[in-house]
Amino acid sequence: MQIRFADTRPTGDFALVIPAAGPSRPGLDSLGASKAAVEAALKRSRFDGDIGSVVETFVDSEGGRRLLVIGTGTDAKSGDASEKLAGTAVARLLVSGESHAVIDLTGLNYDAEAAARVGFAATLRSWRYDRYRTRLKDKQKPTLASVTVVGGGAGVEERYNSRYAGVVDGVSLTRELVTEPANIIYPDTFVERVLESVKGVGLEFEVLDRAAMAKLGMGALLGVAQGSVREPKMLILKWNGGKAGETPVVFVGKGVTFDTGGISIKPAQNMEAMKWDMGGAGAVAGAMKALAARKAKANVVGICGLVENMPDGNAQRPGDVVTTMSGQTVEVINTDAEGRLVLSDAMTWAQKSFKPKVMIDLATLTGAMVISLGHEYAGIFSNDETLAGDLIKAAEASGDKLWRQPLAEAYDRLIDSQIADMKNVGPREAGSITAAQFLKRFVDDGVAWAHLDIAGMAWSDKASATYDKGATGYGVRLLDQYIADVVEG
Ligand code: BES
Ligand code: MN
Ligand code: ZN
Repeated sequence: MQIRFADTRPTGDFALVIPAAGPSRPGLDSLGASKAAVEAALKRSRFDGDIGSVVETFVDSEGGRRLLVIGTGTDAKSGDASEKLAGTAVARLLVSGESHAVIDLTGLNYDAEAAARVGFAATLRSWRYDRYRTRLKDKQKPTLASVTVVGGGAGVEERYNSRYAGVVDGVSLTRELVTEPANIIYPDTFVERVLESVKGVGLEFEVLDRAAMAKLGMGALLGVAQGSVREPKMLILKWNGGKAGETPVVFVGKGVTFDTGGISIKPAQNMEAMKWDMGGAGAVAGAMKALAARKAKANVVGICGLVENMPDGNAQRPGDVVTTMSGQTVEVINTDAEGRLVLSDAMTWAQKSFKPKVMIDLATLTGAMVISLGHEYAGIFSNDETLAGDLIKAAEASGDKLWRQPLAEAYDRLIDSQIADMKNVGPREAGSITAAQFLKRFVDDGVAWAHLDIAGMAWSDKASATYDKGATGYGVRLLDQYIADVVEG
């Protein structure tokens, strides 16, 4: 779907979207002779202009044009309101038969930023993935080809293009990777798909194969991979948009392209969801694409640790002891706690290779995180107050929300092992925290580190303002916002 910006409404056929900021509805004045009828329709529908409320009608004076009046609430310029406005419009119109929509912001006093955000949300909400739906009826196919945002004020188009268009591309890549099933996207093809998608945006890359990782001593990551016929990979994407020689911020993503649990096999119910256990790596790849596409003035490295976790004659067993690249040993009590094993080696390699001051990992790490926070916030664990504060601010601004979780010595004791330096699981209680404590053992002194447990966020069973059911693209907007606000300033 195409997005355009204009000062006045175009001519021709389109569905018209008029926002209503609570009781204030200046947009209706443009309806001329139909204004009274529309107002009556709003009244009969008990329309109050609250955020996300909508009334759909057809207006005579406009030749039977479809009209959507959408509520923004009284705080019409908030990020939430502008995104909900656009998302509601696009969700309603995507397969409606309309091919063009106009969202007319005139009268709301939107600035370029708020209006650009309308365009951003509209584009994000239009994303779908129909590759495997070969029998869609015409009525089920999207018709909405373009949205024009009118009345955004000076500089809105430039703002959209420089700030948001690239982020849309990044989020779309993440959603695609997360949506694809595990027979299509596995470590090799994850790398291929990403490299194809980022061609021309100016990212440098590096790929480590099994032999390279064996040489580096990544016994934890390779232990997870050894039950699969799919070769593990580490994909490194580098964006050098900042000052030469400035140490990069490093993102590390869990990329378990399918998580059966391994020998500690998961129950059959909902196991198909584990195709999106690469959501952390997907977010890292998407964020790198976004930063490059919008030419962020920052040095950033994104690392995806890619493996498939399978049961097999050659799979690792509960009780096995593996030696990580850091030299620390791990007793693998439960082969289903594999994400932390993958991340530990990826984080060690990241710190050895790039000496970052800031390292942020993203992972669909624990079911316990979903129990704690549901699907509204991801959990953030951090050893650094500034980094945690900055990320939580970026989370609020971007809409990819975060809630702080604790780290403490007493939790760390729960993963001590009799036979090795640590075990890979603690007791059932505080499962997300002990997972974070495990990762913390692989963070070098002086590195500000944050671990984002996104298990509840990578996939959604219900639609929102910016996504339909399915892959959300969580993390891309967050990381992009963090780089924009903190690194680029
Ligand atoms: N990928 C899962 C976590 C997960 C579960 C993400 C459900 C999203 C939805 C992870 O590898 C896992 O299996 N974790 C175990 C850890 C346990 C064995 C300590 C879990 O959460 O049950
Ligand atoms: Mn698992
Ligand atoms: Zn997993």
